[in-house]
Parts: sequence; C-alpha cells; structure tokens
Amino acid sequence: MRDRQTRLQRLQGKIARRMSHGIENSMMSQSNELVFFVNGHKVVERNVDPELNLLTYLRRNLGLIGTKLGCGEGGCGSCTVMISKYNALHEKIVHMAVNACLAPLCSLHLTAVTTVEGIGSTATQLHPVQERIAKAHGSQCGFCTPGIVMSVYTLLRNNLNPTMEEIEDTLQGNLCRCTGYRAILEGYSTFTQSSSCCGGGGGRGKNCCKEQPREKSPKLFESSDFKPLDPTQEPIFPPELALSEYPQSTLVFKGERVTWIQPQTLNELLALKAQHPDAKLVVGNTEVGIEMKFKNMLYPVILAPAHIPELTVTQSTDRGILFGAACTLTHIGNVLKKAVDELPGYRTEVFRAVLEQLRWFAGWQIRNVAAVGGNIMTASPISDLNPLFVASGCQLTVASQESTRVMQMDQDFFTGYRKTVLSPQEVLLSVEIPYTRKGEYFSAFKQAQRREDDVAIVNCGMRVAFKEGTDIVEELELSYGGMGPTTVSAKKTCQDLLGKQWTKELLQRACSLLASELTLLPSVPGGMVQFRRTLSLSFFFKFYLRVLQKLGQDFKGEFPVESIPPEYISATELFHKDPASFVQLFQGVLPDQMPWDTVGHSLPHLSSFKHATGEAIYCNDLPRFEKELYLALVTSTEAHAQISSIDAGPALKLAGVTCFISAEDVPGSNMTQDETVFADGVVTCVGHIIGAIVADTEAHAQIAAKAVKVTYQKLKPIITIQEAIMHESYHTAPVKMENGNIEQGFEQADDIIEGEMHIGGQEHFYLETHSTVAVPKGEEGEMELFISTQSPSQSQSLIAKVLGVPTNRIVCRVKRLGGGFGGKESRSTILSTVVAVAAYKTKCPIRCALTRDVDMLVSGGRNPFQGRYKVGYQKSGKIVAVDLTLYCNAGNSLDLSASVMQRALFHMTNTYYVPNIRGTGYVCKTNLPSNTAFRGFGGPQGMFLAESWMDAIIQKSGLPAHQVRKVNMYQEGNITHYGQTMEDVNIRKCWDECMDSSSYYSRRKAVDEFNRQHRWKKRGLAIIPTMFGISFTATFLNQAGALVHIYTDGSVLLTHGGTEMGQGLHTRMVQVASKVLGIPVSQIYICETSTSTVPNTSPTAASSSSDMNGMAIKKACQTLLERLEPFKAVNPTGTWEQWVSMAYMERVSLSATGFYKTPGLNCNSKDHKGTFFNYFSYGAACSEVEIDCLTGDHKNLRTDIVMDVGQSLNPALDIGQVEGAFTQGLGLFTLEELRYSPDGVLYTRGPGTYKIPTAGDIPAVFNVSLLRDSPNKKAIYSSKAVGEPPLFLAASIFFAIRDAIVAARAAFGVMEPFCLHSPATPDRIRNACVDPMTEMCPPAEPGTFTPWNVEV
Ligand SMILES: Cc1cc2nc3c(=O)[nH]c(=O)nc-3n(C[C@H](O)[C@H](O)[C@H](O)COP(=O)(O)OP(=O)(O)OC[C@H]3O[C@@H](n4cnc5c(N)ncnc54)[C@H](O)[C@@H]3O)c2cc1C
Ligand code: FES
Ligand code: FES
Repeated sequence: MRDRQTRLQRLQGKIARRMSHGIENSMMSQSNELVFFVNGHKVVERNVDPELNLLTYLRRNLGLIGTKLGCGEGGCGSCTVMISKYNALHEKIVHMAVNACLAPLCSLHLTAVTTVEGIGSTATQLHPVQERIAKAHGSQCGFCTPGIVMSVYTLLRNNLNPTMEEIEDTLQGNLCRCTGYRAILEGYSTFTQSSSCCGGGGGRGKNCCKEQPREKSPKLFESSDFKPLDPTQEPIFPPELALSEYPQSTLVFKGERVTWIQPQTLNELLALKAQHPDAKLVVGNTEVGIEMKFKNMLYPVILAPAHIPELTVTQSTDRGILFGAACTLTHIGNVLKKAVDELPGYRTEVFRAVLEQLRWFAGWQIRNVAAVGGNIMTASPISDLNPLFVASGCQLTVASQESTRVMQMDQDFFTGYRKTVLSPQEVLLSVEIPYTRKGEYFSAFKQAQRREDDVAIVNCGMRVAFKEGTDIVEELELSYGGMGPTTVSAKKTCQDLLGKQWTKELLQRACSLLASELTLLPSVPGGMVQFRRTLSLSFFFKFYLRVLQKLGQDFKGEFPVESIPPEYISATELFHKDPASFVQLFQGVLPDQMPWDTVGHSLPHLSSFKHATGEAIYCNDLPRFEKELYLALVTSTEAHAQISSIDAGPALKLAGVTCFISAEDVPGSNMTQDETVFADGVVTCVGHIIGAIVADTEAHAQIAAKAVKVTYQKLKPIITIQEAIMHESYHTAPVKMENGNIEQGFEQADDIIEGEMHIGGQEHFYLETHSTVAVPKGEEGEMELFISTQSPSQSQSLIAKVLGVPTNRIVCRVKRLGGGFGGKESRSTILSTVVAVAAYKTKCPIRCALTRDVDMLVSGGRNPFQGRYKVGYQKSGKIVAVDLTLYCNAGNSLDLSASVMQRALFHMTNTYYVPNIRGTGYVCKTNLPSNTAFRGFGGPQGMFLAESWMDAIIQKSGLPAHQVRKVNMYQEGNITHYGQTMEDVNIRKCWDECMDSSSYYSRRKAVDEFNRQHRWKKRGLAIIPTMFGISFTATFLNQAGALVHIYTDGSVLLTHGGTEMGQGLHTRMVQVASKVLGIPVSQIYICETSTSTVPNTSPTAASSSSDMNGMAIKKACQTLLERLEPFKAVNPTGTWEQWVSMAYMERVSLSATGFYKTPGLNCNSKDHKGTFFNYFSYGAACSEVEIDCLTGDHKNLRTDIVMDVGQSLNPALDIGQVEGAFTQGLGLFTLEELRYSPDGVLYTRGPGTYKIPTAGDIPAVFNVSLLRDSPNKKAIYSSKAVGEPPLFLAASIFFAIRDAIVAARAAFGVMEPFCLHSPATPDRIRNACVDPMTEMCPPAEPGTFTPWNVEV
C-alpha cells in the first residue's frame, strides 16, 4: 500500500512538474515518432496518417493477414488483437483485447501489439488456444477464428483459470456465422477448472452433461490430447516499454486530411482546444471512428487526451467515486465492482446499476478502449450510461482555458440531438458517480434487439429516495434513452409523484402519467413506437416491484410495505444465463474399419489449424500484384429513378484516383442475366451499381467514390410485397402446384381456418464480404480472377460475356470462402464483373473487397415471404385441404427467385401429407436489391407457412400440438403434391426419438406449471419436424466433375467442382478419396477450385455438393485404382508409392477425371410433377424458451435436435452443420431484421444495426443427436446432405415463443387467435403480450402517418 502511495506521489510530482510549466509552455516539445511493438518486434514509424487504423497497417504494411476485416465498425470481432501496456501507477502490464479496425495507429505509442501470428503457427507450434479451437471443431470457414483465438488468448493472459461464464463473456464481441458457437465454447471449456463437465451445469440436475448417456456415443474430440496451457511460454512484454523513459513530448502526426495531436498536459490540451474549437477529442475512437468511416464526417484536427493525468484519474470523494473522462469502461467496471464488494449495499445502488448496464454494453473489445467521457459527450439518445448519470445526479467537471466549472448532469445538459451545453472550447474532465443512502434505490434497465453487444431500443435509470422511516417518495428521477432525440427525464411524472406512498395507486398513476408524458410521433426514427412507449411503462413497473421488494427487506417491521404477489417476483429478477450444457450423440464406426479409412470419423476440418493461426488465405489476403489498383463502387441512392447526370469530375481530382468506369466502359454485354453490370439510364434499387472508382489505395478509392455526383429524376418505387400486389408487379407468371380436389377436400372438413403470415428477409452476413482480384494477362483477352464465389463457372461465363471474349480466356479460382450460405452463389458476379471491366480498362490487376455496409446494401439476401392460407381439418386433427398463396419479394431482378419460390411450394406442407392442396406463388418485382439464394432456398419460408397453419389448427382445435403434427406426417408410399413417391421416410423415427430425448411430456407439464406460478415470465415449448428435398430442382445442375492426379512420389492432388466455404466439403472429399485409394488423408491435398481444372461446374449449393462431388471423386479414384491394379497384382506386398512408381515407369496415366449425374430424377417443370429430389433429409427439434412479458426479451433454455444424416461421413462436421444451420435459423426466426425506409433505403447495414446470434443466444442446453441406423442408399457411402435441412428446426424456438405468448395472453383472459410475424423480436413479443400497459400505448392508426420503416 505504502509502495503504491509512493509511486502515486512520484507520478503526481512528475505531473505537477510538467503542469507547472504553465500555459506559456502549453505546447511541449514535439515528436512525430511513433514507437510500438508488434509480436515482439519494435516498430518505429514517422508521419503516420491519423486515418490509418491498426488493422490496415497490420495487413498492408506488415503483411500480417491473420487479423481479418469483417465489418470495420467494431461489431464482429474478427479483427481482435491483444494490446499490452505498462501501467506505471500499478507497476503492472495490462493486456486488452481490442478491435484493430477501430484502433488508430497513432494511438499505439508505447504499446505492444500481439496478433494471431504472434502466438503460434503450424510451422513452429500451435498455442493451446489455437489448438483447442481447431481440434474441438470450432472453426468452419475460419474467418472469425483468429479474432476468437485472440479474445480467449487475452482472457487467459489476464486470468489463467477462467470460469465458463467468463469464457462466454469474453466472446460477447466476437461473431461467428458458421459454427453456432457450441464447438467453440466446448473446446474452450477445457480451460476452465470444471472442464470435464458442462462448465458448472450440475445445477441443472439431470440436464448436466455428466448425466447424459455419453458412453453410448464416441466423443467428437479427446481433450486429453490437448497441450497444457503453460504461461511461462508466453512472449514477454518488451522490457523497454516498461523501463525506459521515452521523452515526454507531444506527439503530432499530419496526414493528408487529418492532424493528430497527443498532448501531455491539461494546459496543453485546453490551449489546443481553444485554438481548434472544432477539434474532436478521441480516446477509444469507437464513436469518432464510426462517424468518419460510415457517416462521411471529416475532423481535420484530432486531440488524443488519453495520457493526461486529470482525465485518467480515479478518486474516492465524499459524494462518490470520481473518474477522469478518459477512463475506460473496463476500468470503471473494475473500480465499481471493488467498491460494491467492499462497501455496504445501500451505498452502492448506483454502482450496481452501472455495472449491470456495463454488462450489456458492447463487447470487451469496445469496453477496453471506450471512455466514459466519449459516451457522455457523444450525447447519443440511446447512450447506455447517460440515463443512469442523469437519474443518479452525477456531477461533471468541465474546463476550458478560461475556467473550470462543476455541473449537475441533468436533462438540460443535452441541448439537442448529439449536442450538450459544453462550448466548443470546453472539455469534460471528469464524472463523479454518487453513493446512495439508506432508503434510496436505483435501478437501470435496457432492452435491445439482442441481449449481448447491442445498443438499446429503450433504456433508463430510475432513482427514488424516501422520507426517512416511510414509503413516501421524497425524490424521484426517471431518465430514459430511446424516447426522444436526447436522454429525456419524465419530469412531470416525477414531480407529480413526490409525497406519494409507494403503492399500487402510485404505480397506476405513474403509468398513466408516463404514457402521456413520454410520447413519440408515429413516424419517429427507429420506429417500434408502441413497443418503446410500452417499455417505458414496463420498466417503471419492474422498478416499482424491485423497490417494493427492497423496502420490504430493508424496513421490515418499521412501516407497512405492500407485499408482492409471489407470481410477480420473477419480474424483479435480473437476467442470468443458465450454465451451458451440450451433448452430441452419434454412431461410431464399426470396429473392423481399416485404420487409414477415415470415413465416419470426426476428422477436424483440414484447414482448421490454418484457420486458428491466421495462415488460411482468403481472396483479399492474396499478396499484392505489381501495379495493382483498388476499386470502390458508386451506387444509387434512389430506389427508382432516371439518371439525369453522372459527374465524376470532383472524384477524379482527388488524390490517387486513376479513373471512373461505368456502362460505357463495358467491352461486351452490360447485361448479365436480367440485370445490368452498371445501371444504364435507370436505377431500380438503392444500391444499384452505377459505376466504380479505381485508385491507388482502398482508402482513396472509397473517398473518391463518395465524391461522384449523380443526379436523378425520381420515379415511383415499389418496395413492399403489398405494393407489388397492388400494382401487379411480378417477375413471372404465378407458379402453381396442385394435387387432389381442393373443393371436395374443404367439403370433408369439420372446420376451416383462414389466416396469413409474413416472414422477413435475412442478410447472409458471411464474415468475409464479397471480394475479387482480377489480373489481366495481356494476351488474347485472358484474365485470371480470384473470387469469393460459390459459382466459379457461372462467374467465368458471365465475366466472359461482359468482356466479350470466349469463356476459355477466363480462369476463375477459389481457394476458400469466409462463408457463403447462398449469398455468393449468383450475387458474387455483381462485383466480379465490375472488377473485370476495370481490369480490362486499366490493364492493371484490380482488387475489391466490399466494405460491410456496401456488401449489405448491394447484394440482397433471403426473400421475404408473405403467405395466405385456408386450411380444412377434421375433428381428429387430420388435414383434408389446404389452399395457399405465397408472395416473395424478389427485388429488382429475377436472379434465383423463381426457383426459390418453386422450392417454397415444394416444401409448403413441410412433413405433412395433404390429400387436397393448391399452392400459388407470385414472385414480386420490387425496387429492392435483388434477393437470392440463402441456406434453405425458400424451403424454410414454405415450411414456416406450413407450421403457421398447423399452429392455427392446434390453437383452434385445442388438440395437443404433438398429436396433430404426428397424425398428419408422411408415411411410406405417400405421394407428395408434386407427384414424388415417398421412400425410406425417417421423419417418425426422428420425431419419436426427439420426443423421447427431450422428455417432451414431462417438460410440457413442467412448463404449464411454471406458467401457473409466474405472471410476468412465461415459458413455451414446441417440437417441430422438418423434411428437406435434396437435389437442385433445375435437373441439369445435378452433375459434378472431379480431376485426380497422382504424382510420382505418391502424393495425390484432388480437384472437384465444389468450393470450400466452411462446410468442410474438401475434408469430406479427401476422406472419400482416401477410402477409395486406400491411402492416408495426409497424402491427399486439395489446393483450390478452378475453372481451368474442372469445367462447367454447378454452384456449391443445394446441400448436394458432397453427394455429387463425392461420387465424381469416387469414380475418378476407381479409374486410377484400376490402372494401378496390375502393379498391385505383381507386387502385392508393395507400398502405394512403389505401385505408383511402377505405373509411371510403365507409362500409365496417373491422372483421371470422374463425372457424376444424379440418377432417377424425372421432373416435369411445366406442371411441377415428378421426382424432383434424389431423397429427403429429415429432422425434429424440441425447444423451450422463457419470455419476459414486460420487455419482450426471451431466453433459449433448451433445444434437443434429432437429425437424419444417413451414415455420417464425418460426425463432427455434420454436427457442426446442424448447429450452425440451427443457429442461423434462430437468427432468422427471432433476431435478424432488415429494416427499410418506405423509399427503399436499407437502414441495417452492419453489425451495429443488424443482429445475428452471438454465443449468448444459443440454447443453454443444446443437444444434438444424429439418427442411428439409417443408411441412405442414394448417396456417397450411405450419407445424407446436411447443409440446409437443419435450418428450419429453429422454427421450434419461434413456436415455443408463440406458445409462451399464448400463455401470457391467457393469463390476461385474451384467448382469440393472434398473428405473430417472423422474426419474433422483442417488440413483436411485447406487443403480443397484451396487458394494461400495452393498452395505454395503442398504435397509431395505419395510413395516418408515414412510418419510419416498412415490412417488405
Ligand atoms: C461496436 C460498438 C458497440 C457499442 N455499444 C454501445 C452500447 O452498448 N452502449 C452505448 O451507450 N454505446 C455503445 N457504443 C458507443 C461508444 O462505444 C461509446 O459511446 C463510447 O463510450 C465512446 O467512447 P470513446 O472513447 O470511444 O469515444 P470517442 O470516439 O473517442 O469520442 C466520442 C466523442 O466524445 C467526445 N469526447 C471524448 N472525450 C471527451 C472529453 N473529455 N471532453 C469533450 N469531448 C469528449 C469526442 O470529441 C467525440 O465527439 C458502441 C460503439 C461501438 C463501435
Ligand atoms: S472488423 Fe473489426 S470488429 Fe469487425
Ligand atoms: S467459422 Fe466463424 S464465421 Fe465462419
């Protein structure tokens, strides 16, 4: 303690000496030298451009491409690195996980950066953090993996024995779109002390992993193989950063547009602020970075105050704890936590609320750098801290060169949207967070679309203080975010309630006052008006109950306090996550299987070590080519308009710009299929590509693209399905599928129900955005392109068409994709054709990796669907007739939407046999970017409609849900509505096993009992089946090719038509080849997919790539085996290498092709009758959820899946696909919402606004079982396709939520049917849970206002 004081005094002395130099010396000596370390190597940079971030520097300047760019806005974590600093005060080294994409390089002076390359490699050795994620099957496409590795690595550098909760927490800021997180969490659970168990799941009794029948099933990985974590092996912190005295000088970096000044003293800072009043202060750059990158703001002077003692101070005062404005949120959290542990509870009410709010504030990477001052001064209306600071009465100290003032933070602090009372010359010095006294209570609430790493929809801080010894309100502050353009206080309500007792009457009065005080215009930005208004009341209701509870505890017997009904208690509880528990069950291989035969084994993804070390190369990781240039797109800002003029002049004058290209530069056809490469005269969606800028650097190209001026003459757009129906705007004639006699069917029905549903679109959100590098070869129109595409052949032929050359001049190469999910099937050509034109025009290599916002804007996603149904059923629950009309929003081009609609119609009965049916599908033509393939390809939308009408029957008939579903399921020999005879129908097997493994009946009872005991929390349970047809429905696509070379050393190079995008296709294909050839997988290599090796390939899609390419490979390998047979016969005890060598010497070809076409398909596309599918994949899932009826929040408690994958080629990869698809479906049905303005502008253009599931969203208990003993005679080695089929199983979560809402409504006496559109977001859940609060906030009459967003 004494040591620390002496150190503090020493530091203060140093500071005082510096400060005593006074204002006359306000500018200290200057330096433009930036010193830091990267992976132990010292870096000294002069004249750093302040706009350069660490990520770009690592990737471009140092070639450290392991750190990935997923979003550029701090929202995905794929750029996570560790930054270490020496803390002189505590004489210790601090390690922090940081988003490199937001870290200005200038801010790194005297820090040590560790990237994924710095901790291990395949050439040396893997770090345990890398090894465990790889061996536990925690990487699929691998694009997120380096970021995840670095987050967990940093955690372990700070804490060698983390709990499972800490591991889950540390991943709050890391997104993975492929895995579904389970494998990552399970791999890393081995670092916890309770690693042999589910991480503390014992509390869940028989759900604990130890209680599961694991012994029946082999394990996916063997944790005893893992290298131990040895902290002594970690790289050391560079001693010179801790020891040496670098000169204390002001750092000044001047760039092309921005100057960065890092002053050393407060006086210096204040002088600079006086000199540059418009200068921005930057600490974490988590606001300013976003503004500059995405909001087109330019701040010519940036002041970095993070080293000024007055701004980093932490001090206990009489009133509370004072934090310098540059203190990071992590630091504040640590200090407050300590205070809460040490001080009596009544003093730390505010601290605990701040801690609770920080728990849900972004992820660690942001909290580690973001400063409290930045949060306050941004003055965002949805700041998570400002409502708490206002309600608790925090004091702020503010200074300018002229004066220092202390002010109370109240609503008047905010003078308008993102404005405060501070003058431009003033800076915020500190904020003092107050203690509370006895009889004073404080709570914070926040509701966001997603619980983790999301900004609030509404949040608030609430404080009440009572007259001593009473429950009479003496002081009351209710401060809200999300209820106006600033943080707002409900002043009138608070004033009115003073002097009142804390009783039901006060609650009622408060609610009606709040409802009239906190109003929102129906067209307010952000939308969700009814939800936001209701939340403001719900939060108060929760506060009221919590305070009652505390009054009861603190003043028991001193004065009477209203009691809380026991069924209300759960409304007062804070969210807590149940301990995770995961079980995977699958069949092992037979004991007599040959040791080298890996088919059926859980072989890790062959690239997994490279994923984990950052060595895996993606398109944009390719080294730069000589004379390479960058490209940025110029896109339309109007949904439908005539282009009046395009003026690239201002852009062409900017630094580094080479040229602008547009329609007139296309040498061949400007039309690909039914859309343009560059808009020609008319734009048909916001995001329509008009042109592109080519420049020397990415930054120059992006800046210049924004400077191209386009003027428009607006035309009326059609945005929504409703508008398309009204204007009869369709791409094609309606698609019809019919069977039986619909009229007669309805006559047999005991009851008929009609209804409708809507399911929103979905963004693919592959972590790697669309990327292309095009290299013109200079001869005869040759061009080589590296493309992140699922369709190399389609890219090749369209690029040839656009360039006007024969297809044989174009080579498209794909090493791997950072995720595709259908988004890179046809849409990758919208970028690759543009890049090809630029390469043609400039004769230079051209690169473009779309920024996340542009990718989301231009590339479309899953088709939103609207469905109307009329369904007739009998008393037994048997369905006799269904009449359906489906509409999908295809956007401005047809793309694949007709096939998507066709598949939706094929799947419109899900697993149910309907004797009389009619389905009609309309493909709506709208002014949105073209929608396209997405995992499931219309199947999930069709099945969702089926389950919607199934649910309607269940609600109306009162029959048990599981019974109605089962009674209607397909049986062997049934004929589908498209005329295919059902064979090997495994759905009942999956269903029965799922009913059993989920203990459905007992859990149904337990859920009903829970609901009887809880008024404001309700649970729901649903079991949902799925059946997915395997084959491309366009028959000609059901073909595949392979090329296999054996080299003279016996090594084998395998090539086939499929692309590796994380699904493990290459791994499976190597397993197949290894089995056929009889050699270990280590002797077989797949380098890439290329149009020059296997031509005319089908897209890697429709889940059938393993089936088809596997068969093609098998054939090629069999041909080679036959050629080797004579040599084996001559030398039966010889080795593979010897046989190969003999064959070579005998001039036998060691190269063979294989070709496969799916047999038995017999389809008539005109009347949609025939055998469209090779076979079906089946599955069933049972999910349980808990909803918070007051906030619309929900928890995924448990999911049990049984999936039929035939005889698995690789159980680890198959289970990974099941979990990944399920989690993506969970996003589709509960979280992910694309929001469009009525004019067709997409608001949701990044992870900040579009929320995919995080690790915290997966079910706490997540069990996956692969159906046993169900070999599939129709596919390679009896396996089944698995990529798409499990996605729909996540609908079980949607219907469990619906089940819970039914219970919530019933508790309030509301029994009539209701419509719940997908996704079941918090606002839809809350609005459906009708109660007095929702009634106080009715929605505005539709048609009386222009909404902020529309359902498309
Ligand atoms: C991925 C992501 C997630 C986020 N999640 C949340 C969330 O959950 N909740 C939430 O509330 N916010 C969130 N934010 C917003 C942001 O992180 C916070 O507002 C953060 O506190 C800003 O701090 P900073 O140091 O990074 O600010 P900076 O970007 O460095 O600065 C922000 C602004 O504050 C001004 N400023 C900073 N310090 C001072 C000072 N001392 N005096 C005067 N002006 C000053 C700057 O001039 C600038 O205008 C998120 C941001 C990102 C990128
Ligand atoms: S790229 Fe940095 S967080 Fe996404
Ligand atoms: S493996 Fe995580 S995004 Fe692909």
